[in-house]
Amino acid sequence: MIQPQPFDLILFGGTGDLAMRKLLPAMFNIHAHGQWPEESKLICVARSDYTRGEFLDFVAEHARGNVSQELLEKDSWARFCEVIDYVAIDLFDTDSYQKLGVQLEGREAFNRLFYLSTGPNLFGPICENLGKNQLITKNSRIAVEKPLGRDQKSAREINAQMSQYFEEQQIYRIDHYLGKEPVQNLIALRFGNALFEPLWRRGRIRDVQITVAEQLGVEGRGEFYDQTGALRDMIQNHLLQMLCIIAMEPPTSMAGDGVRDEKLKVLKALKPLRGDDVLSKTVRGQYSRGIVNSKDVPDYTAEKGVAPDSTTETYVALKAEIDNWRWSGVPFYLRTGKSMQTKISEIVINFEEVPHSIFDNEPGMPTPNRLVIQMQPSEGIKLSIMAKKPGDGMRLTPVNLNLDLSKTYKRGSYNAYQRLLVDLMCGNLSLFMRHDELDAAWAWIDPIISTWQDRDVRPKHYPAGTWGPAASSALVARDGFSWHEEGH
Ligand code: BG6
Repeated sequence: MIQPQPFDLILFGGTGDLAMRKLLPAMFNIHAHGQWPEESKLICVARSDYTRGEFLDFVAEHARGNVSQELLEKDSWARFCEVIDYVAIDLFDTDSYQKLGVQLEGREAFNRLFYLSTGPNLFGPICENLGKNQLITKNSRIAVEKPLGRDQKSAREINAQMSQYFEEQQIYRIDHYLGKEPVQNLIALRFGNALFEPLWRRGRIRDVQITVAEQLGVEGRGEFYDQTGALRDMIQNHLLQMLCIIAMEPPTSMAGDGVRDEKLKVLKALKPLRGDDVLSKTVRGQYSRGIVNSKDVPDYTAEKGVAPDSTTETYVALKAEIDNWRWSGVPFYLRTGKSMQTKISEIVINFEEVPHSIFDNEPGMPTPNRLVIQMQPSEGIKLSIMAKKPGDGMRLTPVNLNLDLSKTYKRGSYNAYQRLLVDLMCGNLSLFMRHDELDAAWAWIDPIISTWQDRDVRPKHYPAGTWGPAASSALVARDGFSWHEEGH
């Protein structure tokens, strides 16, 4: 197991929802796995005027229920609490950062990890105030959560603010999808096996589908979500990052900038979607009243914090294409939505059909090979191949070669944030976005948004608890394909 060097982790937004649901539970897991150096501290920073004791009660109430229960043995929670401190700071008040200075005094030799789990409007003021109070040491790193802007311009402004105080090599832009085990396994599958490389290209792969369907609606984030929408919230980051991992050329190494350089090339090679192409290759949807998991879901526009006449999309499907030798002509279909029928996140690689069938089979047989990398509801990788049906004759049937990683390795308590936090602690930037990747992703997304606005493209309604608007099936059907929904 990797052992990080001693650090101080300063978590801004320390009482926030993400801190309680994901970050503190992930830190607890790291601590319980014995990867937290003894002298390392976690300093949570927020505005609320808690004493340390009151904050620990708050954490017990809001975060403890989210940790891996099998790790909650004996005194593991109490031992984790020993490393936690709390400082109440008004983030806009330069002087109040001195309280943080007191906590960090004499600890300059440790890696200093600032984690900003706050709105992006606070990134600038926090960096400036850390700078003014001389709290940024040469071995400091800063991790920031999305949303990193709402377009290329605002993303550049955020970046400019951070880069006044931190070098690019000190900035860790988090996309938690890159911390997911199956996404990392896709890298292992592609570059740890000679088998796939000759097949990983046009002529061999017919189409690629990336789906992130959620059953959750906007869950108390109505106000934020209504300003954001599915394209900015999911496609610009998580789905494009997965597309990059599928499509990138083999990096020379996992270390340094290898992976980031290759991902950038993919983003730059995305065929721009503009004007009429946006109309024919994207689908916007918004959920209306329906039933998800036997529960009534109201119209999106009736959700708390959402404008009653909102035209924000809660669903997007689109066809992306990559203009390079490897991928020219291969469609990458991306879709994501809220309040959908099933929670499912998966990457599906559909291979080409055999050129000529020698078997006497039912129509539709043999079916093309398919590789499915599934993140939700369970983690695993399946390769569907054709095999002979037992018995007389040569009749074929698809069977799955199943790599059920959760059963093979009893990892239990490892999650995406945990992996990325350990990378942050160890200074491994490979799976964090570089500023030019972010810039290139926005450069591709911006014209889609502006065309939707200019041409008044309103979202099509879909009842909550379904697979999204019918136009989404039509998008792939036009190319002769259908979405992979088998077994869902
Ligand atoms: C976040 C989005 O980045 O990812 C949320 O802001 C979304 O809207 C979430 O629900 C999905 O993450 P996961 O890991 O639950 O698939």
